[in-house]
Amino acid sequence: MATETAAAGGSRLDWLSRRSGPMQGELVIPGDKSVSHRAIMLGALADGVSQIDGFLEGEDTRATARIFAALGVRIETPSASRRIVHGVGVDGLRAASDVLDCGNAGTGMRLLSGLLAGQAFDSVLSGDESLHRRPMRRVIEPLAAMGARIESEAGGLPPLRIKGGCALHGIDYALPIASAQVKSAVLLAGLYARGETVVREPHPTRDYTERMLQAFGYPIEFMPGLARLSGGHRLRACAVSVPADFSSAAFFIVAASLIPGSCVRLRAVGLNPRRTGLLAALRLMGADIREHARSEQGGEPVADLEIRHAPLHGIEVPVELVPDMIDEFPILFIAAAAAKGVTTIRGAAELRVKESDRIAVMAAGLRNLGVRIEERPDGAVIEGGAIGGGEVDSATDHRCAMSFVVAGALAPAPVRIRDCANVATSFPGFDRLARSCGLHLESS
Ligand code: S3P
Repeated sequence: MATETAAAGGSRLDWLSRRSGPMQGELVIPGDKSVSHRAIMLGALADGVSQIDGFLEGEDTRATARIFAALGVRIETPSASRRIVHGVGVDGLRAASDVLDCGNAGTGMRLLSGLLAGQAFDSVLSGDESLHRRPMRRVIEPLAAMGARIESEAGGLPPLRIKGGCALHGIDYALPIASAQVKSAVLLAGLYARGETVVREPHPTRDYTERMLQAFGYPIEFMPGLARLSGGHRLRACAVSVPADFSSAAFFIVAASLIPGSCVRLRAVGLNPRRTGLLAALRLMGADIREHARSEQGGEPVADLEIRHAPLHGIEVPVELVPDMIDEFPILFIAAAAAKGVTTIRGAAELRVKESDRIAVMAAGLRNLGVRIEERPDGAVIEGGAIGGGEVDSATDHRCAMSFVVAGALAPAPVRIRDCANVATSFPGFDRLARSCGLHLESS
Protein backbone atom coordinates (compact mmCIF):
# COMPACT_ATOMS: atom_id res chain seq x y z
CA MET A 1 0.00 0.00 0.00
CA ALA A 2 1.46 3.35 -0.99
CA THR A 3 0.78 6.72 0.59
CA GLU A 4 0.89 10.09 -1.19
CA THR A 5 4.47 10.97 -2.14
CA ALA A 6 6.36 13.81 -3.80
CA ALA A 7 5.11 15.74 -6.85
CA ALA A 8 5.86 14.42 -10.32
CA GLY A 9 8.16 16.79 -12.18
CA GLY A 10 6.82 18.15 -15.50
CA SER A 11 8.98 17.81 -18.62
CA ARG A 12 8.61 19.19 -22.14
CA LEU A 13 6.67 16.94 -24.52
CA ASP A 14 5.61 17.62 -28.11
CA TRP A 15 3.15 15.49 -30.07
CA LEU A 16 2.65 14.74 -33.73
CA SER A 17 -0.92 13.99 -34.72
CA ARG A 18 -1.63 12.54 -38.18
CA ARG A 19 -4.70 11.97 -40.27
CA SER A 20 -6.52 8.96 -38.84
CA GLY A 21 -8.85 6.35 -40.22
CA PRO A 22 -12.22 5.52 -38.66
CA MET A 23 -12.26 5.40 -34.86
CA GLN A 24 -13.66 2.22 -33.38
CA GLY A 25 -13.95 0.70 -29.95
CA GLU A 26 -15.31 0.91 -26.47
CA LEU A 27 -13.38 3.32 -24.28
CA VAL A 28 -13.09 3.82 -20.54
CA ILE A 29 -12.48 7.46 -19.69
CA PRO A 30 -10.70 8.36 -16.39
CA GLY A 31 -12.51 9.76 -13.37
CA ASP A 32 -13.95 13.24 -13.03
CA LYS A 33 -11.47 15.90 -11.95
CA SER A 34 -13.95 18.14 -10.13
CA VAL A 35 -15.40 15.23 -8.16
CA SER A 36 -11.97 13.77 -7.34
CA HIS A 37 -10.69 17.06 -5.86
CA ARG A 38 -13.78 17.42 -3.69
CA ALA A 39 -13.77 13.79 -2.57
CA ILE A 40 -10.26 14.18 -1.12
CA MET A 41 -11.19 17.48 0.56
CA LEU A 42 -14.41 16.34 2.19
CA GLY A 43 -13.00 12.90 3.01
CA ALA A 44 -10.17 14.67 4.86
CA LEU A 45 -12.60 16.84 6.86
CA ALA A 46 -14.97 13.98 7.72
CA ASP A 47 -15.08 11.86 10.86
CA GLY A 48 -14.10 8.34 9.85
CA VAL A 49 -12.61 6.60 6.83
CA SER A 50 -13.84 7.34 3.31
CA GLN A 51 -13.11 5.23 0.24
CA ILE A 52 -12.91 6.90 -3.15
CA ASP A 53 -13.30 4.72 -6.25
CA GLY A 54 -12.62 5.99 -9.74
CA PHE A 55 -10.28 8.71 -8.40
CA LEU A 56 -8.57 10.59 -11.23
CA GLU A 57 -4.84 9.79 -11.20
CA GLY A 58 -4.11 13.18 -12.75
CA GLU A 59 -1.44 15.59 -11.57
CA ASP A 60 -4.04 18.15 -10.44
CA THR A 61 -5.94 15.78 -8.20
CA ARG A 62 -2.80 14.10 -6.91
CA ALA A 63 -1.53 17.56 -5.95
CA THR A 64 -4.67 18.03 -3.86
CA ALA A 65 -4.15 14.65 -2.19
CA ARG A 66 -0.52 15.56 -1.41
CA ILE A 67 -1.66 18.85 0.12
CA PHE A 68 -3.98 17.05 2.52
CA ALA A 69 -1.21 14.62 3.39
CA ALA A 70 0.91 17.68 4.25
CA LEU A 71 -1.99 18.94 6.41
CA GLY A 72 -1.84 15.75 8.46
CA VAL A 73 -4.34 13.49 6.70
CA ARG A 74 -3.41 9.86 6.02
CA ILE A 75 -4.37 8.94 2.47
CA GLU A 76 -3.72 5.43 1.21
CA THR A 77 -3.56 4.23 -2.37
CA PRO A 78 -4.42 0.52 -2.24
CA SER A 79 -4.58 0.43 -6.04
CA ALA A 80 -4.71 2.86 -8.95
CA SER A 81 -7.81 5.06 -8.96
CA ARG A 82 -8.63 4.22 -5.37
CA ARG A 83 -7.94 6.26 -2.27
CA ILE A 84 -8.66 5.59 1.36
CA VAL A 85 -8.87 8.84 3.28
CA HIS A 86 -8.55 8.75 7.05
CA GLY A 87 -10.61 11.81 7.91
CA VAL A 88 -9.36 14.01 10.73
CA GLY A 89 -12.66 15.80 11.35
CA VAL A 90 -13.60 19.33 10.44
CA ASP A 91 -11.25 20.72 13.11
CA GLY A 92 -8.43 18.18 12.75
CA LEU A 93 -6.13 19.59 10.03
CA ARG A 94 -2.62 20.54 11.15
CA ALA A 95 -0.35 23.30 9.85
CA ALA A 96 1.86 22.19 6.97
CA SER A 97 5.58 22.70 7.32
CA ASP A 98 5.91 24.04 3.79
CA VAL A 99 4.16 25.91 0.97
CA LEU A 100 1.22 23.93 -0.45
CA ASP A 101 1.73 23.35 -4.18
CA CYS A 102 -1.52 23.14 -6.17
CA GLY A 103 0.35 22.51 -9.44
CA ASN A 104 -1.79 23.54 -12.41
CA ALA A 105 -5.11 23.32 -10.56
CA GLY A 106 -7.31 26.39 -10.27
CA THR A 107 -9.93 24.21 -8.61
CA GLY A 108 -7.44 23.05 -5.99
CA MET A 109 -6.26 26.56 -5.18
CA ARG A 110 -9.64 28.27 -5.11
CA LEU A 111 -11.43 25.62 -3.06
CA LEU A 112 -8.51 25.33 -0.66
CA SER A 113 -8.40 29.09 -0.14
CA GLY A 114 -11.93 28.90 1.29
CA LEU A 115 -11.25 25.81 3.35
CA LEU A 116 -7.93 27.07 4.76
CA ALA A 117 -9.32 30.52 5.58
CA GLY A 118 -11.25 28.83 8.39
CA GLN A 119 -8.29 27.07 10.03
CA ALA A 120 -6.43 28.04 13.18
CA PHE A 121 -3.06 28.06 11.35
CA ASP A 122 -1.45 30.01 8.49
CA SER A 123 -1.01 28.45 5.02
CA VAL A 124 0.59 29.43 1.72
CA LEU A 125 -0.83 28.19 -1.59
CA SER A 126 1.30 28.23 -4.71
CA GLY A 127 1.27 26.56 -8.12
CA ASP A 128 2.88 26.40 -11.52
CA GLU A 129 3.46 29.29 -13.93
CA SER A 130 0.01 29.01 -15.48
CA LEU A 131 -1.73 29.00 -12.09
CA HIS A 132 0.31 32.02 -11.00
CA ARG A 133 -1.26 33.99 -13.84
CA ARG A 134 -4.85 33.18 -12.83
CA PRO A 135 -7.12 35.65 -11.04
CA MET A 136 -7.72 34.97 -7.36
CA ARG A 137 -9.42 38.22 -6.41
CA ARG A 138 -12.69 36.49 -7.23
CA VAL A 139 -12.20 34.28 -4.14
CA ILE A 140 -10.24 36.72 -1.99
CA GLU A 141 -13.01 39.33 -2.04
CA PRO A 142 -15.93 37.22 -0.79
CA LEU A 143 -13.68 35.41 1.69
CA ALA A 144 -12.45 38.78 3.04
CA ALA A 145 -16.08 39.80 3.42
CA MET A 146 -16.47 36.71 5.65
CA GLY A 147 -13.57 37.90 7.83
CA ALA A 148 -10.72 35.99 6.15
CA ARG A 149 -7.26 37.49 5.70
CA ILE A 150 -5.61 36.48 2.45
CA GLU A 151 -2.63 38.23 0.88
CA SER A 152 -1.79 37.82 -2.77
CA GLU A 153 0.74 39.17 -5.22
CA ALA A 154 -0.11 42.39 -7.07
CA GLY A 155 -3.27 42.08 -9.14
CA GLY A 156 -4.73 39.36 -6.93
CA LEU A 157 -2.36 36.69 -8.26
CA PRO A 158 -0.93 33.66 -6.42
CA PRO A 159 0.86 32.68 -4.26
CA LEU A 160 -1.83 33.21 -1.60
CA ARG A 161 -0.86 33.69 2.03
CA ILE A 162 -3.83 32.71 4.17
CA LYS A 163 -3.90 33.82 7.78
CA GLY A 164 -5.22 31.38 10.35
CA GLY A 165 -7.22 32.12 13.46
CA CYS A 166 -9.71 34.51 11.81
CA ALA A 167 -13.26 34.40 13.12
CA LEU A 168 -15.36 33.94 9.98
CA HIS A 169 -19.00 34.92 9.69
CA GLY A 170 -21.54 33.92 7.05
CA ILE A 171 -22.45 36.18 4.14
CA ASP A 172 -25.17 36.36 1.52
CA TYR A 173 -23.12 36.54 -1.66
CA ALA A 174 -24.30 37.12 -5.22
CA LEU A 175 -21.55 35.85 -7.53
CA PRO A 176 -20.63 38.44 -10.17
CA ILE A 177 -19.61 35.59 -12.55
CA ALA A 178 -20.93 32.06 -12.87
CA SER A 179 -18.14 30.11 -11.13
CA ALA A 180 -18.42 26.80 -9.31
CA GLN A 181 -14.96 27.35 -7.92
CA VAL A 182 -15.85 30.64 -6.26
CA LYS A 183 -19.17 29.25 -5.03
CA SER A 184 -17.36 26.26 -3.55
CA ALA A 185 -14.67 28.39 -1.88
CA VAL A 186 -17.36 30.45 -0.12
CA LEU A 187 -19.31 27.35 0.93
CA LEU A 188 -16.21 25.63 2.31
CA ALA A 189 -15.34 28.75 4.31
CA GLY A 190 -18.98 28.70 5.40
CA LEU A 191 -18.36 25.39 7.22
CA TYR A 192 -16.20 27.41 9.63
CA ALA A 193 -18.32 30.57 9.73
CA ARG A 194 -20.67 31.77 12.41
CA GLY A 195 -24.21 31.91 11.06
CA GLU A 196 -25.57 31.30 7.59
CA THR A 197 -23.69 31.47 4.28
CA VAL A 198 -25.73 31.92 1.11
CA VAL A 199 -24.37 31.89 -2.45
CA ARG A 200 -26.46 33.09 -5.39
CA GLU A 201 -25.35 32.48 -8.97
CA PRO A 202 -26.13 34.44 -12.14
CA HIS A 203 -26.40 31.06 -13.91
CA PRO A 204 -26.38 27.67 -12.18
CA THR A 205 -22.94 25.99 -12.18
CA ARG A 206 -21.79 22.48 -11.33
CA ASP A 207 -23.10 21.58 -7.89
CA TYR A 208 -20.67 18.85 -6.86
CA THR A 209 -19.65 20.62 -3.65
CA GLU A 210 -23.27 20.90 -2.55
CA ARG A 211 -24.13 17.29 -3.48
CA MET A 212 -21.04 15.93 -1.83
CA LEU A 213 -21.51 17.93 1.37
CA GLN A 214 -24.97 16.41 1.53
CA ALA A 215 -23.59 12.90 0.90
CA PHE A 216 -21.14 13.47 3.79
CA GLY A 217 -24.10 14.27 6.04
CA TYR A 218 -23.57 18.04 6.21
CA PRO A 219 -26.84 20.01 6.38
CA ILE A 220 -27.12 22.08 3.20
CA GLU A 221 -29.98 23.44 1.16
CA PHE A 222 -29.48 23.92 -2.55
CA MET A 223 -31.23 24.32 -5.85
CA PRO A 224 -30.02 25.51 -9.26
CA GLY A 225 -28.55 28.99 -8.71
CA LEU A 226 -28.62 28.99 -4.87
CA ALA A 227 -26.85 27.24 -1.99
CA ARG A 228 -27.23 27.83 1.73
CA LEU A 229 -25.51 26.31 4.77
CA SER A 230 -24.58 27.20 8.35
CA GLY A 231 -21.24 26.64 10.00
CA GLY A 232 -20.48 24.39 12.91
CA HIS A 233 -21.72 20.98 11.77
CA ARG A 234 -19.66 17.84 11.17
CA LEU A 235 -19.12 15.57 8.16
CA ARG A 236 -19.53 11.78 8.23
CA ALA A 237 -17.17 9.63 6.17
CA CYS A 238 -18.76 7.94 3.16
CA ALA A 239 -17.92 6.03 0.00
CA VAL A 240 -17.48 8.14 -3.14
CA SER A 241 -17.79 6.62 -6.59
CA VAL A 242 -16.36 9.01 -9.19
CA PRO A 243 -17.95 8.90 -12.66
CA ALA A 244 -15.92 9.22 -15.89
CA ASP A 245 -15.09 12.83 -16.67
CA PHE A 246 -17.35 14.30 -19.36
CA SER A 247 -14.71 16.92 -20.17
CA SER A 248 -12.20 14.18 -21.01
CA ALA A 249 -14.82 12.24 -22.97
CA ALA A 250 -15.43 15.39 -25.03
CA PHE A 251 -12.27 14.93 -27.15
CA PHE A 252 -13.41 11.47 -28.25
CA ILE A 253 -17.00 12.62 -28.76
CA VAL A 254 -15.87 15.33 -31.18
CA ALA A 255 -13.18 13.20 -32.87
CA ALA A 256 -15.65 10.37 -33.59
CA SER A 257 -18.23 12.86 -34.84
CA LEU A 258 -15.74 14.37 -37.29
CA ILE A 259 -13.77 11.36 -38.58
CA PRO A 260 -15.69 9.57 -41.36
CA GLY A 261 -16.69 5.98 -40.64
CA SER A 262 -16.19 6.26 -36.88
CA CYS A 263 -18.31 4.60 -34.24
CA VAL A 264 -17.15 4.58 -30.62
CA ARG A 265 -18.78 3.84 -27.32
CA LEU A 266 -17.68 5.60 -24.12
CA ARG A 267 -18.51 3.70 -20.95
CA ALA A 268 -20.44 5.22 -18.02
CA VAL A 269 -19.70 8.90 -18.62
CA GLY A 270 -20.85 11.44 -16.01
CA LEU A 271 -23.73 13.46 -17.44
CA ASN A 272 -24.37 16.10 -14.79
CA PRO A 273 -26.54 18.61 -16.68
CA ARG A 274 -24.24 21.47 -15.57
CA ARG A 275 -21.42 19.80 -17.55
CA THR A 276 -23.01 18.59 -20.75
CA GLY A 277 -23.70 21.78 -22.72
CA LEU A 278 -21.36 20.42 -25.40
CA LEU A 279 -23.79 17.58 -26.15
CA ALA A 280 -26.54 20.10 -26.81
CA ALA A 281 -24.25 22.26 -28.98
CA LEU A 282 -23.00 19.28 -31.00
CA ARG A 283 -26.52 17.99 -31.52
CA LEU A 284 -27.50 21.43 -32.84
CA MET A 285 -24.56 21.05 -35.25
CA GLY A 286 -25.94 17.70 -36.46
CA ALA A 287 -23.97 15.21 -34.34
CA ASP A 288 -25.18 11.63 -33.87
CA ILE A 289 -24.71 10.93 -30.15
CA ARG A 290 -26.84 8.31 -28.42
CA GLU A 291 -27.14 7.52 -24.75
CA HIS A 292 -27.49 3.94 -23.47
CA ALA A 293 -27.68 2.26 -20.09
CA ARG A 294 -28.58 5.39 -18.15
CA SER A 295 -28.05 4.92 -14.42
CA GLU A 296 -26.75 6.71 -11.34
CA GLN A 297 -23.25 6.49 -9.93
CA GLY A 298 -22.51 8.19 -6.64
CA GLY A 299 -25.70 10.21 -7.04
CA GLU A 300 -24.66 11.45 -10.52
CA PRO A 301 -26.39 10.56 -13.80
CA VAL A 302 -24.15 8.40 -16.02
CA ALA A 303 -24.70 6.71 -19.38
CA ASP A 304 -22.76 4.99 -22.13
CA LEU A 305 -22.37 7.35 -25.09
CA GLU A 306 -22.37 5.99 -28.63
CA ILE A 307 -20.98 8.41 -31.17
CA ARG A 308 -21.14 7.93 -34.92
CA HIS A 309 -19.65 10.12 -37.57
CA ALA A 310 -22.08 12.72 -38.89
CA PRO A 311 -21.56 15.81 -41.02
CA LEU A 312 -21.57 18.89 -38.76
CA HIS A 313 -22.68 22.40 -39.66
CA GLY A 314 -21.88 25.73 -38.00
CA ILE A 315 -24.18 27.28 -35.40
CA GLU A 316 -24.54 30.27 -33.18
CA VAL A 317 -23.72 28.69 -29.82
CA PRO A 318 -26.61 29.58 -27.50
CA VAL A 319 -25.23 31.87 -24.77
CA GLU A 320 -27.19 30.05 -22.08
CA LEU A 321 -25.17 26.87 -22.81
CA VAL A 322 -21.82 28.59 -22.12
CA PRO A 323 -21.46 27.86 -18.36
CA ASP A 324 -22.51 24.24 -18.96
CA MET A 325 -19.69 23.70 -21.45
CA ILE A 326 -17.06 26.11 -20.17
CA ASP A 327 -14.25 23.52 -20.30
CA GLU A 328 -15.28 22.22 -23.72
CA PHE A 329 -14.66 25.30 -25.85
CA PRO A 330 -11.19 24.29 -27.05
CA ILE A 331 -12.61 21.12 -28.60
CA LEU A 332 -15.71 22.97 -29.82
CA PHE A 333 -13.35 25.30 -31.73
CA ILE A 334 -12.08 22.21 -33.59
CA ALA A 335 -15.61 20.97 -34.29
CA ALA A 336 -16.48 24.43 -35.61
CA ALA A 337 -13.35 24.60 -37.79
CA ALA A 338 -14.24 21.25 -39.39
CA ALA A 339 -17.97 21.95 -39.74
CA LYS A 340 -19.69 23.38 -42.79
CA GLY A 341 -20.43 27.08 -42.38
CA VAL A 342 -19.82 29.63 -39.67
CA THR A 343 -19.90 29.09 -35.89
CA THR A 344 -20.25 32.07 -33.56
CA ILE A 345 -19.32 31.96 -29.88
CA ARG A 346 -20.33 34.78 -27.53
CA GLY A 347 -20.52 35.28 -23.78
CA ALA A 348 -17.44 33.18 -23.07
CA ALA A 349 -14.92 35.79 -21.79
CA GLU A 350 -14.07 33.41 -18.90
CA LEU A 351 -12.09 31.39 -21.45
CA ARG A 352 -9.44 34.09 -21.32
CA VAL A 353 -8.59 33.27 -17.68
CA LYS A 354 -8.48 29.47 -17.77
CA GLU A 355 -5.23 27.43 -17.79
CA SER A 356 -4.38 29.67 -20.76
CA ASP A 357 -6.21 32.39 -22.68
CA ARG A 358 -8.12 29.71 -24.55
CA ILE A 359 -9.62 32.06 -27.12
CA ALA A 360 -6.19 33.39 -28.09
CA VAL A 361 -4.45 29.99 -28.00
CA MET A 362 -7.10 28.21 -30.07
CA ALA A 363 -7.37 31.10 -32.54
CA ALA A 364 -3.58 31.28 -33.04
CA GLY A 365 -3.32 27.51 -33.48
CA LEU A 366 -6.22 27.23 -35.90
CA ARG A 367 -4.87 30.14 -37.94
CA ASN A 368 -1.59 28.23 -38.24
CA LEU A 369 -3.64 25.35 -39.61
CA GLY A 370 -5.21 27.56 -42.27
CA VAL A 371 -8.57 28.16 -40.58
CA ARG A 372 -10.21 31.60 -40.81
CA ILE A 373 -11.11 32.73 -37.34
CA GLU A 374 -11.93 36.10 -35.90
CA GLU A 375 -11.21 36.58 -32.21
CA ARG A 376 -13.70 38.54 -30.13
CA PRO A 377 -13.22 39.66 -26.49
CA ASP A 378 -15.83 37.10 -25.37
CA GLY A 379 -15.63 34.47 -28.09
CA ALA A 380 -14.85 33.95 -31.75
CA VAL A 381 -16.31 33.61 -35.22
CA ILE A 382 -14.99 30.49 -36.91
CA GLU A 383 -15.34 29.76 -40.60
CA GLY A 384 -15.66 26.03 -40.96
CA GLY A 385 -14.13 24.00 -43.77
CA ALA A 386 -10.84 22.22 -44.05
CA ILE A 387 -8.17 22.05 -41.33
CA GLY A 388 -4.61 21.88 -42.64
CA GLY A 389 -1.34 20.60 -41.20
CA GLY A 390 1.25 22.71 -39.41
CA GLU A 391 2.66 23.53 -36.01
CA VAL A 392 0.68 24.84 -33.03
CA ASP A 393 1.46 25.80 -29.45
CA SER A 394 -0.74 24.42 -26.67
CA ALA A 395 0.64 27.11 -24.31
CA THR A 396 0.94 24.25 -21.76
CA ASP A 397 -2.87 24.02 -21.66
CA HIS A 398 -3.99 20.39 -21.42
CA ARG A 399 -7.34 20.92 -23.11
CA CYS A 400 -5.85 22.93 -26.00
CA ALA A 401 -3.23 20.20 -26.53
CA MET A 402 -5.84 17.41 -26.72
CA SER A 403 -8.05 19.53 -28.99
CA PHE A 404 -5.22 20.03 -31.48
CA VAL A 405 -4.68 16.25 -31.52
CA VAL A 406 -8.20 15.97 -32.94
CA ALA A 407 -7.36 18.67 -35.50
CA GLY A 408 -4.35 16.60 -36.59
CA ALA A 409 -6.51 13.50 -37.01
CA LEU A 410 -8.49 15.40 -39.67
CA ALA A 411 -5.73 17.31 -41.45
CA PRO A 412 -4.15 16.03 -44.68
CA ALA A 413 -0.66 16.86 -43.30
CA PRO A 414 0.62 16.25 -39.74
CA VAL A 415 -0.05 18.68 -36.90
CA ARG A 416 2.85 19.18 -34.50
CA ILE A 417 1.68 20.28 -31.04
CA ARG A 418 4.14 21.93 -28.69
CA ASP A 419 4.11 21.50 -24.90
CA CYS A 420 1.71 18.65 -24.23
CA ALA A 421 3.10 17.39 -20.89
CA ASN A 422 0.27 19.06 -18.96
CA VAL A 423 -2.25 16.66 -20.50
CA ALA A 424 -1.30 14.53 -17.48
CA THR A 425 -2.95 17.11 -15.21
CA SER A 426 -6.42 15.96 -16.25
CA PHE A 427 -6.07 12.97 -18.59
CA PRO A 428 -3.18 10.62 -17.86
CA GLY A 429 -3.05 7.98 -20.61
CA PHE A 430 -4.85 10.14 -23.19
CA ASP A 431 -2.28 9.28 -25.87
CA ARG A 432 -2.56 5.52 -25.24
CA LEU A 433 -6.35 5.63 -25.31
CA ALA A 434 -6.30 7.75 -28.47
CA ARG A 435 -4.05 5.25 -30.22
CA SER A 436 -6.18 2.32 -29.02
CA CYS A 437 -9.19 3.56 -30.97
CA GLY A 438 -7.36 4.49 -34.16
CA LEU A 439 -5.81 7.94 -33.77
CA HIS A 440 -2.27 8.32 -35.12
CA LEU A 441 -0.49 10.13 -32.31
CA GLU A 442 3.19 10.00 -31.41
CA SER A 443 5.71 11.94 -29.35
CA SER A 444 8.02 14.12 -31.40
C1 S3P B 1 -14.47 23.65 -11.87
C2 S3P B 1 -15.17 24.75 -12.25
C3 S3P B 1 -14.94 25.47 -13.52
C4 S3P B 1 -14.13 24.64 -14.51
C5 S3P B 1 -12.97 23.96 -13.87
C6 S3P B 1 -13.43 23.05 -12.74
C7 S3P B 1 -14.75 23.02 -10.57
O1 S3P B 1 -14.25 26.68 -13.24
O2 S3P B 1 -13.69 25.48 -15.57
O3 S3P B 1 -12.26 23.18 -14.83
O4 S3P B 1 -14.32 21.89 -10.32
O5 S3P B 1 -15.45 23.67 -9.76
P1 S3P B 1 -15.04 28.02 -12.81
O6 S3P B 1 -15.92 27.66 -11.71
O7 S3P B 1 -13.96 29.00 -12.43
O8 S3P B 1 -15.77 28.43 -14.06
